[in-house]
Amino acid sequence: MRRKLVAGNWKMNGSADSIRGLLQGIREGAADVAAVELAVFPPFVYLGLVEQQLSGTAIGWGTQNLSEHASGAYTGEVAGPMLQDFRCKYVIVGHSERRTLYGESDQIVARKFAAARKVGIDPILCVGETLEEREQGVTEAVVERQLKAVLDLEGIGAFVDAVIAYEPVWAIGTGRTATSVQAQEVHAFIRAKLAALDPAVAGKTRILYGGSMKAANAGELLAQPDIDGGLIGGASLEAKEFLAIAKAGC
Ligand code: PGA
Repeated sequence: MRRKLVAGNWKMNGSADSIRGLLQGIREGAADVAAVELAVFPPFVYLGLVEQQLSGTAIGWGTQNLSEHASGAYTGEVAGPMLQDFRCKYVIVGHSERRTLYGESDQIVARKFAAARKVGIDPILCVGETLEEREQGVTEAVVERQLKAVLDLEGIGAFVDAVIAYEPVWAIGTGRTATSVQAQEVHAFIRAKLAALDPAVAGKTRILYGGSMKAANAGELLAQPDIDGGLIGGASLEAKEFLAIAKAGC
């Protein structure tokens, strides 16, 4: 049985004050949703605050990005060993905003995935098609290409502890969610691709859905056999809503 993971991608939002309040709310409600694993992804500068607030709880944390390099002259970047210092459990790699706004190629994403594993942090690999790609009928080809770059570099064994997040770009922050049928189709496709290489690993890899997930649609999405949780953007900024999504997965 794969334990569901509900992860909050805060993106570039929050302040020290608002984060204290948000985490207090999440901590207070976490016991009610203990069947589900919770994790939050603050901007880098709040990592110390999040570590301090969540130490000793069952809630995990991580960041939204990391450098592919371990140290050196890379102004403005943050490396895997630094995340290790703050006891990050996970790190998001290849979010579509990184891919499109910051030009991260499949190969860069694969190297970031490797950099995370190197320091024992589980990567959450985001994949997903744009609206144009869906309309052209190339969703599976796009997802397969994104996945293949990582498989080529790291191999199927890397997916035992890694997490995949299927995030159709057209559903992110748009209020337009993939239907549970659309999402399940792609999740099953991803799992089949992994299973063709190693069925045991495929059975263990958690595949999250992301894209305008909220309490109102979480139940149906999380009931699908291959949807093992959610990567939540906007709705993760409110403790009540975030916990309600987790509740739907219990
Ligand atoms: P959203 O974002 O829930 O606000 O659509 C999801 C994500 O980008 O991870």
